[in-house]
Amino acid sequence: MRPVKGILLAGGRGTRLYPVTRVIGKQLLPIYNKPMIYYPLTILLLAGVREILIISTPDDLPAMRLLLGDGSAWGIRLEYAAQAEPKGIPEALIIGADFVAGDRVMLMLGDNLVYGQLEFLREAMQRSTDGATIFAYQVSDASQYGVVEFDRHGAAISLEEKPQRPRSSWAVVGLYLYGGDVADRARRLRPSARGEIEITDLNRMYLDEGRLQVQRLGRGVAWFDTGTSENLLEAANFVRAVETRQGLIIGSPEEAAYRMGYCTLKDLEQTVAAMSTSAYRTYLERVLHEAHWESPAPTPGSAPGGDGA
Ligand code: G1P
Repeated sequence: MRPVKGILLAGGRGTRLYPVTRVIGKQLLPIYNKPMIYYPLTILLLAGVREILIISTPDDLPAMRLLLGDGSAWGIRLEYAAQAEPKGIPEALIIGADFVAGDRVMLMLGDNLVYGQLEFLREAMQRSTDGATIFAYQVSDASQYGVVEFDRHGAAISLEEKPQRPRSSWAVVGLYLYGGDVADRARRLRPSARGEIEITDLNRMYLDEGRLQVQRLGRGVAWFDTGTSENLLEAANFVRAVETRQGLIIGSPEEAAYRMGYCTLKDLEQTVAAMSTSAYRTYLERVLHEAHWESPAPTPGSAPGGDGA
């Protein structure tokens, strides 16, 4: 099976976070102790995606590139592209069409944080389909998200973007899996009242054709979207609580790349050696130390603690 490509969309102006986002892009802001973009990037790596296009604003792109590099140290491929104007999430699929080159693609929003057992993601990847798979998560107020309604047999029957009166409490997570022809569909979208092409309209195309899988995420998964200061603080508190309790960290692409077998222990050693002294570095030193005691070296996807990272 051909590899699934990844697109990480870290665009937008982050207006709801003004003035914090006046001179820096939202996805570069910290969530507790790491830049926000580390979290979705880590999820893509743990899902098995190792060729990723990062799309950001022309202003933030140089900083993104400086932060993440070309991925070679982690055994992955990172490329970069600019979204000149925030014209909507599906535009990422149009910008990334050449990169994706007809393969299946996992699109993740750079301000989404997912934590927990990621089996659901790997299962979705295994199902070979040229349709679309989206994930729904129960929230107390769904009105600020895409909302999916189910019939009593559990089949998705409607999709709405930020409805004033949501028909259900199931919000659509900013993580989507599409077949190879998605860019052509995205090109057919017309802007909504707010002047953007909408991911919900794209997903509705698949729903109308009976080619949309909607997978509901249960209590074992935590999902945050960090669009407001309130959400940002909630996510940071969550990360801090889990990390402090377990002594494991969430959202380390270096650790994920190593545990997935994309890079060797030696590669990780080199990466860590170049880091400034910090709690992050100390943690990765511990990973290295423990890895020296583990044998044989981990094979892709087999490592303990690989999930939730
Ligand atoms: C976007 C999508 C929405 C989705 C959400 C997930 O909204 O339009 O359908 O539920 O991401 O984070 P935004 O947060 O960009 O307003």
